[in-house]
Amino acid sequence: MISIAIDGPAGAGKSTIAKELAKRLGCIYVDTGAMYRAVGLYCLRQNIDYNEETEVNAALPHIKLDIEAIKEGQKIYLNGQDVSTAIRTSEVAAAASKVATYGEVRKTLVSQQRQMKEEKSLVMDGRDIGTVVMPDATLKIFLTASSEERAKRRYLEYKQKGMVVDLQTLIQEIEERDYQDSHRSISPLKKAEDAKEVDTTFKTVDEIVTHILHLLA
Ligand code: DC
Repeated sequence: MISIAIDGPAGAGKSTIAKELAKRLGCIYVDTGAMYRAVGLYCLRQNIDYNEETEVNAALPHIKLDIEAIKEGQKIYLNGQDVSTAIRTSEVAAAASKVATYGEVRKTLVSQQRQMKEEKSLVMDGRDIGTVVMPDATLKIFLTASSEERAKRRYLEYKQKGMVVDLQTLIQEIEERDYQDSHRSISPLKKAEDAKEVDTTFKTVDEIVTHILHLLA
């Protein structure tokens, strides 16, 4: 079985690259950010103040997440309901970034992620995959890109979905989220020592995936 860890900041191209890589290798793709987002969404829907760690911890036993691998990537179910689209908003992203700072949340999600790795060959993306979730991964990649480039990608994603967003606001949101993700005390976003850093700015998906496949060979 092979396991590939893809980490990096928001908008570095993790999901696009990880999905394509999984397709070419014939293994499944797991987007762990979707799991933190689903916890954030649960809090928003249940009126749980996600800034209150004890309230979020108390909610954890009521949150059941299921990941389904599909041809286009993955679907995520929150207590049986498909929330794959509902988790893709700025509001949910902000809640996810906050709940991801809580030890109990991380412990619960990391144990589910490790279980998936035991069952199937996979490409898993997130922030702590190479450092915490699968320190023994077959290959670890740390993707980067400038914050302007990353915000531009998010801008185009939102625009395609018909959502109106302001580029400057997105750059600011991305920088705030980077700060929170890389400065939290538990499992901050950081490159594993043995990860290969790949800068995706100005590169095509095909160039990046081909490069990673060479690293795997
Ligand atoms: O990749 P994303 O934007 O969907 O992730 C949502 C949030 O979850 C992000 O702020 C960082 C956090 N996250 C994390 O802490 N650890 C992971 N393995 C994946 C995501």
